Amino acid sequence: MNQIDLGDVMLTVHSRGSGPPLVLLHGFPFDHRMWSGQEPLADSLRVVAPDLRGFGGSTAGDGIESIRQLADDVARLMDALHLKTGAILCGLSMGGYVAQQLAVHHPSKFRGLILVDTRLEADTDAVRAGRAELAASVGRLGSRVAAEAMVPKLLAASTAGSPARRTVEEELRRMILSTSPETIIAALAALAARPDMRSAMAAVRVPTLLVVGEEDVITPPEAMRTILDVMPHAELLVVPGCGHMTPMERPEIFNRAMIDFVARI
Ligand code: MLT
Repeated sequence: MNQIDLGDVMLTVHSRGSGPPLVLLHGFPFDHRMWSGQEPLADSLRVVAPDLRGFGGSTAGDGIESIRQLADDVARLMDALHLKTGAILCGLSMGGYVAQQLAVHHPSKFRGLILVDTRLEADTDAVRAGRAELAASVGRLGSRVAAEAMVPKLLAASTAGSPARRTVEEELRRMILSTSPETIIAALAALAARPDMRSAMAAVRVPTLLVVGEEDVITPPEAMRTILDVMPHAELLVVPGCGHMTPMERPEIFNRAMIDFVARI
């Protein structure tokens, strides 16, 4: 674990292995621990998993303002780590929104993009209203409300009750409970305000892999399929038995897909 001082914010980054750099960006409201099943990737890659501003071991600085700000933080972090070009960028859900901003605004840093359980569209009004309601409840009652609201929807319905799923649920709960209410509230506002990325992403030509859980109800396979209209060169992998947290639910399939993609590009 390294602490990287970017001046206005101190980011924690977990880095393992050597080889082509792979930058892993976590979802909301998690941290680098959601990638623990990807540790075997460090046998052949330099795996770099930061905690975004306010999450995990990273400070919030003046607070989370936007998804673009989180992306600019990662770009500055990569410069500090001397990862100026040639990395492979992978982001799940909110991490996928951050990855899209990086792909558009810092394209020279990356030679491959992996978007996992995410989407290109902005929020609908109904989703924005749900986020505002959740933020108000978290403000009143704390982070546990986010855990109660989110955990049941994150994993595949078909695995309900299995011991492996219970372990993943516990890990998710632990991460959410360790995220401060301030970070959850600010990130919900940033998620709600994020722009539609369809036209900007149409200009991104880097090799792209899309991965989605077959049973993801937050960013379902249909949402990921529409990315192919915008990025026809992308490949789509739909992983059975997975909800929104594919790398945690089926790490062996996910890791194999990553290794194959990196070998191809
Ligand atoms: C995530 O997993 O990062 C969130 O579900 C993102 C979102 O709510 O759009």
